Amino acid sequence: MDKKIGVKILGTGSYFPERILTNADLEKIVDTSDEWIVTRTGIHERHIAADNEATSDLALEASKKALKAANIPGEKIDLIIVATITPDMFFPSTACCLEKKLGLVNIPAFDLLAACSGFIYGIATAKAFIESGLYKTILLVGSDMLSRITDWTDRSTCILFGDGAGAMILSASEEDDNVLSVSLGADGSFGDLLYMRGGGSVCPATAESIAAKYHTITMKGADVFKSAVPKMVKAAEDAIIKAGVKLQDVKLFIPHQANMRIIQAVAKRLNISMDSVFVNIHKTGNISSATTITALDEAIKTGKLQKGDLVVLVAFGGGFTWGGAVVRI
Ligand SMILES: CC(C)(COP(=O)(O)OP(=O)(O)OC[C@H]1O[C@@H](n2cnc3c(N)ncnc32)[C@H](O)[C@@H]1OP(=O)(O)O)[C@@H](O)C(=O)NCCC(=O)NCCS
Repeated sequence: MDKKIGVKILGTGSYFPERILTNADLEKIVDTSDEWIVTRTGIHERHIAADNEATSDLALEASKKALKAANIPGEKIDLIIVATITPDMFFPSTACCLEKKLGLVNIPAFDLLAACSGFIYGIATAKAFIESGLYKTILLVGSDMLSRITDWTDRSTCILFGDGAGAMILSASEEDDNVLSVSLGADGSFGDLLYMRGGGSVCPATAESIAAKYHTITMKGADVFKSAVPKMVKAAEDAIIKAGVKLQDVKLFIPHQANMRIIQAVAKRLNISMDSVFVNIHKTGNISSATTITALDEAIKTGKLQKGDLVVLVAFGGGFTWGGAVVRI
C-alpha cells in the first residue's frame, strides 16, 4: 500500500497596512466612545489600507514573508488559493492578481469564499489537494480589506473591522504531517444575519443600490454573537476529536478574532484558561479570513509557539460558516 502523503507547514507570514485607526479616531466619525468599543469588543485599534492598496497587495506582502520563512522560491509553488470576501474585483480572481504580482506564471490560482472561516476552509482545501497527490506545494492566503465594504456611518459595524493578510505555505511531505484534522460546517439559513447584498446577481450596482448602502456590510450583531459561540465550540471539539488528541495537549487556541467577549465565552465553554488562548484583536479588529493566520504567524514569530506544539484554529463567519483545524507547528 502507498504511504499516506503528509502535509507539512513550511512557513507563515503576515502583513498589515501602515495606517492605524484608533477608537479615538472613530469617536470623530460616529457617535461612539473608546470605552464602549473596548468594553463590548476588546478592540483598541485596527489597520486600514491606503487608497492605492488592493487586497492582492496585502496578500503579496504576506506571501513574500511566508516564502522567506519557508525558504523556498516562488517557482516551487504549484497552486495558489486566496480566501477573501473583499477581492480586488469580481474577476479575475485575487489569486490570479497575486500570481501576477509574485511574478509567477502557469500556476492554477483561485479564490475561496467562506467569509471569516475562509482560512480554515483553505487549510481543508489545501490538505485535500496535497493528500490526493494533485498538487505538492500550495500558497494559501487569507486577505481581507473590510474597510472597503464598511458603512462608516453605521456605528454598530464600523468599529469592528480592519484590514490585513496572512499566508501559509503547505507542502507534501513523507516525514511530517502537520495538519492533523479539519472540521467544517455551514448553515445557509442564517445568511440574512450577516451579509453584503449589493454587487452580485441579486442586486447589481445601480445608483439606487449605492444610495441604499447595499454595497456595505449588514449585520444583526447580537444574533451573530449568539450563534458564533456554540458553533466555534463545536468546531474546536470536532477537530480535536478527529485529530485524536487531548484538550490538555493543545498548547494554544487561536480563535477567530471577532469580539473579545466571543473569544472569552468560547474559552469558558471549552473549559480552557485564557492563558492558552491567543488574542490580538485589540490591535487588529476583525479582518475576516486573515484573523487566524495572522494570529498564528504572530504566535510563531514571537516565540509563543515552538516546533512540535499543537494548535487549534477555530473560526466562524457569514453564511453562516464555521471551521476548526488542529495543526502541529
Ligand atoms: C456588534 C456588537 C459589538 C454589539 O454589541 P451588543 O452588546 O450586542 O450591543 P447592541 O447591538 O445590543 O447595542 C446596544 C446599544 O449600544 C448601541 N451601540 C451600538 N454600537 C455602538 C457604538 N459603536 N458605540 C456606542 N453605542 C453603540 C446600540 O445602538 C444600542 O443602543 P440602544 O440600547 O439605545 O438601542 C456585538 O453584538 C457583536 O460583536 N456581535 C458579533 C459581531 C461579529 O462578531 N460579527 C462578525 C462575525 S464573523
